[in-house]
Amino acid sequence: MVAHVTTVAFQGIEAVPVDVQVQIAPGFPGIVIVGLPDKAVAESRERVRAALHASGLALPPKRIVVNLAPADLPKEGSHYDLPIALGLMAGLGVLPGEQLADFVVLGELALDGTVAPVAGVLPAAIGANAMGRGLICPAACGPEAAWAGGDMEILAPRSLIALANHFKGTQVLTRPEPALRRDAGGLADLADIRGQESARRGLEIAAAGGHNLLMAGPPGAGKSMLASRLPSILPPLAPKELLEVSMIASIGGELSGGKLTDRRPFRAPHHSASMAAMVGGGLRARPGEASLAHHGVLFLDELPEFTPQVLDSLRQPLEAGEVVIARANHRVSYPARFQLVAAMNPCRCGMAGEPGQSCARGPRCAADYQARLSGPFLDRIDMRIEVPAVAATDLIGASASEASVTVAGRVAVARAIQAERFLALAPGSSGINAHCATSLIETIAALDPAGERLLHDAATALKLSARGYHRVLKVARTIADLDGAETVGRIHLAEALSYRVGGERILAAA
Ligand SMILES: Nc1ncnc2c1ncn2[C@@H]1O[C@H](COP(=O)(O)OP(=O)(O)O)[C@@H](O)[C@H]1O
Ligand SMILES: [Mg+2]
Repeated sequence: MVAHVTTVAFQGIEAVPVDVQVQIAPGFPGIVIVGLPDKAVAESRERVRAALHASGLALPPKRIVVNLAPADLPKEGSHYDLPIALGLMAGLGVLPGEQLADFVVLGELALDGTVAPVAGVLPAAIGANAMGRGLICPAACGPEAAWAGGDMEILAPRSLIALANHFKGTQVLTRPEPALRRDAGGLADLADIRGQESARRGLEIAAAGGHNLLMAGPPGAGKSMLASRLPSILPPLAPKELLEVSMIASIGGELSGGKLTDRRPFRAPHHSASMAAMVGGGLRARPGEASLAHHGVLFLDELPEFTPQVLDSLRQPLEAGEVVIARANHRVSYPARFQLVAAMNPCRCGMAGEPGQSCARGPRCAADYQARLSGPFLDRIDMRIEVPAVAATDLIGASASEASVTVAGRVAVARAIQAERFLALAPGSSGINAHCATSLIETIAALDPAGERLLHDAATALKLSARGYHRVLKVARTIADLDGAETVGRIHLAEALSYRVGGERILAAA
């Protein structure tokens, strides 16, 4: 007789059903697992044996074959323990096989028979709901699974015994409640930053339209400080975005306590990050920082210190909004629509172009440093702003600056205008100017005649690429939205162009 239990394998954030077949037959005693298991799955044999033993169930001296079908799909991770154990228990007649057929099962087993948390419970629950089944998952992941649907059955047992008792009817498990993480303690506030009026304005525009931003300036000017305050002025995630972001975090094993949060992700990987850490992949095709920053911010501090290959690997997700990882046996894709915010010093010593300072290595220092950034990468950055040093004397006794709540209010108004616009023009899009489809840009950012003349002159003088041209128009549209203006005027365009020129000046300062 063969017992069947359904579990899942993950391809990107999609949960693909996997049939766990367990056969207990006469023969040389032992457990064999087949169906492309990786090391963690193969080791599950020992955990399952010990967990069943601890739960008071001795395996018969028979040959046990576990097949994970489809056989050609690679199986990775530790979440196959629980389905294999339940398959065995059904095969031994300890659990009712026909009731198990209504569930998708995933979870890791500890040697003492407790069910340990695993990654990917949220996408598995959503997949199970789509198949019209319930879910059996670890107790710690129950709150996460409960988000998948109000009426699906979810069993989140602490141990194998608790689950067996539930099916026997002696101790019924209650359905877990969906949990939202309420972050105690506010985010860092913009009020802490003295001066830097133009940089603050740039940050506000970038937040309002979701534009990519590069800040350049000498060390200690407050670039990292500014960037870390961006989350405090961004609006919370919409329900649909929240689910998408949480699915990626779930697969990446980053959902603490199974709780979801409506805060936008803010990822700040160190500059030693490898390509696999940044865009995903590696031995287990995990989502990288670019995907974990989906619908949020990817902050690259000390930009030129990143390996050029790593930066260039971001070019494709920056355009397409997703990462495709091709591996020897299959391809997976993860969503990766993030806002890129970067900070850099103008040269390695950081003093190039500063009044009253001189760079010891002269122009070479800045040129070498900036040469680490490729042209196509820089072309994808909509706004470049200079962050000049603030003198310590300016900080003494300076009054507090505008607080984040005020700025967040203006950003929210501008985002509402955009959401309304794209609801009519491109339903289903993300609803912010930065992600506007190329075909729509000229419709949404129609210029007045004076603006058109300015754009014509600027495009020639700045040698704007087609991409640069479109990105300038999008930024101009955001500035007009912040202004509450219906059409994009010359003044809005001029400001947008100044952010394009900002970068040229930074480079020329060397
Ligand atoms: N505009 C500012 N207002 C208040 N403090 C500042 C400002 N700029 C810099 N600082 C101080 O300098 C420190 C270093 O700033 P940081 O953002 O790390 O500089 P950068 O990243 O530009 O090198 C901050 O932690 C803060 O104490
Ligand atoms: Mg810094």
